[in-house]
Amino acid sequence: MRIILLGAPGAGKGTQAQFLMNTYNIPQISTGDMLRAAIKAGSELGKKAKEVMDAGQLVSDDIMIGLVQERIGQEDCENGFLLDGFPRTIPQADAMQEAGIKIDYVLEFAVADDVIVERMAGRRVHPGSGRVYHVSYNPPKEEGKDDVTGEDLVIREDDKEETVRKRLKIYHEQTEPLVSYYKKLADQGVVACHKLDGTKKVEQINQELKALLG
Ligand code: AP5
Ligand code: ZN
Repeated sequence: MRIILLGAPGAGKGTQAQFLMNTYNIPQISTGDMLRAAIKAGSELGKKAKEVMDAGQLVSDDIMIGLVQERIGQEDCENGFLLDGFPRTIPQADAMQEAGIKIDYVLEFAVADDVIVERMAGRRVHPGSGRVYHVSYNPPKEEGKDDVTGEDLVIREDDKEETVRKRLKIYHEQTEPLVSYYKKLADQGVVACHKLDGTKKVEQINQELKALLG
């Protein structure tokens, strides 16, 4: 199963990716997590990406397309994958089409901007695994600690309200057009598109996804 998760920053892509990954046994390809790992490792890519990400801007299409194509070519992606955070621009989606990478489902999570700003203020993440929590809506078992490893949770650099608002603006300008891009492909029977209400409870969305994907 090959899935694209679409939705604004904070819409719940990473949260639902954890569920889908565990349920369908397919790897999550989170471009945001890949970039954050590169920053942590101090690689050339990380150096290039840090400033751009902290400012809430997008990393260049060329870099992102190369990164994802290399990842999709790896063995564990043979039976499917879950794209979280990619494609994010029309050129990125075009590159996937041109490379002949077939997608089965495009799942869009709809959440209003003001709800997102509130969510991001309470987000905590486990950098090692990409697991995501919220201090009130999805709290870890022990405050400030990852459920699986017990390691410390952190606040993302780009979760400041001002940066979140910037990321939302860029989402509406550059990423939201992908919804109609994939709807057109759905009309041709190439892909299935589904819109979910991302403001429902995490578990309720899990169940809706299961009903959709079987
Ligand atoms: P990325 O890491 O992809 O960030 P994003 O798309 O902005 O999305 P987020 O990770 O912020 O949100 P999410 O939808 O995963 O929500 P989450 O599940 O965490 O990208 C970061 C940066 O990297 C970009 O800004 C860009 O610079 C760069 N980048 C990445 N990919 C790129 C690309 N392709 N091209 C160019 N640049 C790229 O949930 C958020 C919070 O809400 C959590 O606290 C969670 O617990 C809570 N929550 C989740 N679901 C619910 C629910 N149903 N109810 C209540 N709370 C919920
Ligand atoms: Zn995410």
